[in-house]
Amino acid sequence: MHRRQLLRNAACAAALFGLPPEAARADTPSLPAGDLFRRDPEAYWKRIRDEQFLLPGWRAFLNNGSLGLAPKPVLRAVTEFLDRSAGLLIDEYPRWGYETLDEHRRELAAFFGCAKDELALTHNATEAMNIVANGLDLNAGDEVLTTDQEHPGGSCCWRLKKARFGIDIREVKIPLPPAGPEQLADLLVSSIGPRTRVLSFSGITTTTGLIMPVREICLAAREKGVITVVDGAHMNGQTPVNLHDLACDYFAGSPHKWLFTPAGCGVFYAREEMLDRLWVNVATGGWDDRKLKAARFMQVGTNNRAIFEGFIAGLRFLKELGPERVYGRIHQLGRMCYAKARHVPGLELLTPDDDRMFAGLVSFRLTAEQAKKANERCREKRIWIYPSEKTRVSTHIHTRPEDLDVFFDIIRDVTRA
Ligand SMILES: Cc1ncc(COP(=O)(O)O)c(C=O)c1O
Repeated sequence: MHRRQLLRNAACAAALFGLPPEAARADTPSLPAGDLFRRDPEAYWKRIRDEQFLLPGWRAFLNNGSLGLAPKPVLRAVTEFLDRSAGLLIDEYPRWGYETLDEHRRELAAFFGCAKDELALTHNATEAMNIVANGLDLNAGDEVLTTDQEHPGGSCCWRLKKARFGIDIREVKIPLPPAGPEQLADLLVSSIGPRTRVLSFSGITTTTGLIMPVREICLAAREKGVITVVDGAHMNGQTPVNLHDLACDYFAGSPHKWLFTPAGCGVFYAREEMLDRLWVNVATGGWDDRKLKAARFMQVGTNNRAIFEGFIAGLRFLKELGPERVYGRIHQLGRMCYAKARHVPGLELLTPDDDRMFAGLVSFRLTAEQAKKANERCREKRIWIYPSEKTRVSTHIHTRPEDLDVFFDIIRDVTRA
């Protein structure tokens, strides 16, 4: 029998006979034993890449910063849910948009260090940032303080607010590379002015991958009565995230970059006391029911629930691998990438030589001409990355050290005078 058909039958059998969902995933390769990791970590990560992802050997992927890769168990969770719901083999209604998905949120909240009622599922960080910017009451003359390193997904919501309501936006210039986290905290906090109502900044910057001292900034801003909004699109899965420890008022995440989830998975967090300050952007039943807490922001009409089954599967994949092991590998490869970049004569690095300030994103400058050539060469070598005048390399557990060798050979060639 065809493999897909077998799988489908396994899923149906599991649903019909009340078997645990694990029974339907019987052919999902299990993770290599932890013993292999201790004996030969490179062999361990190679097996993870080969067995858990669909990535062919001829492809190098260095672009989690845009969108990450879902491993096999995640894809399986999504397709199984779709299959089972299309056959009405499940008892839950196969959609979301009118539910609060409490079990999903409880599991996510436990991992992200917050309460279930402070967390809403969204489709991405952009949507979560818009929940905040469009939801807050701000008036002409109120100021939003931000940086010159923001992604449009975290800055255009404030530009819209400026166009409609006449708020002011002020950008703090981030030095590249910065001297240290203290300098960044000082810069942002000392820039807060008498009209600043909101401080909105990325926890990890988009092109340059800098880890910001989020907690220090948020605590200082709170003392000054300023609302903090953290665009954490790159944080979940790349670095540990404990939302209560971060001390921000609002947080937006895109786990589909680093946390193994399918595209279309986002998180929105609001500190309990800050929930009632927001209007919803999308109104349907429940729009004004404050008892729903953060789930008020999930009442958005019918949606694809299978994606959120994939979200939970992505989180469980991370937990099974061991989050610390994953973060460690991401940064080990990021360090390797930094060292290779540093050895390219004349290359201007934007990432500081400071392990506190980057994880799996390393960034450097190219001229427009060099970037064009590098793009062509990367296409030839089937390296999935888009070199530009600020090139960003992403490293994750499926990155092979040799992928970085091939990439930096290209960079060395195109920058040779
Ligand atoms: C810092 C930052 N914020 C927001 C976004 C937008 O992410 P999404 O498209 O998942 O909403 C990105 C995407 O790269 C980003 O880097």
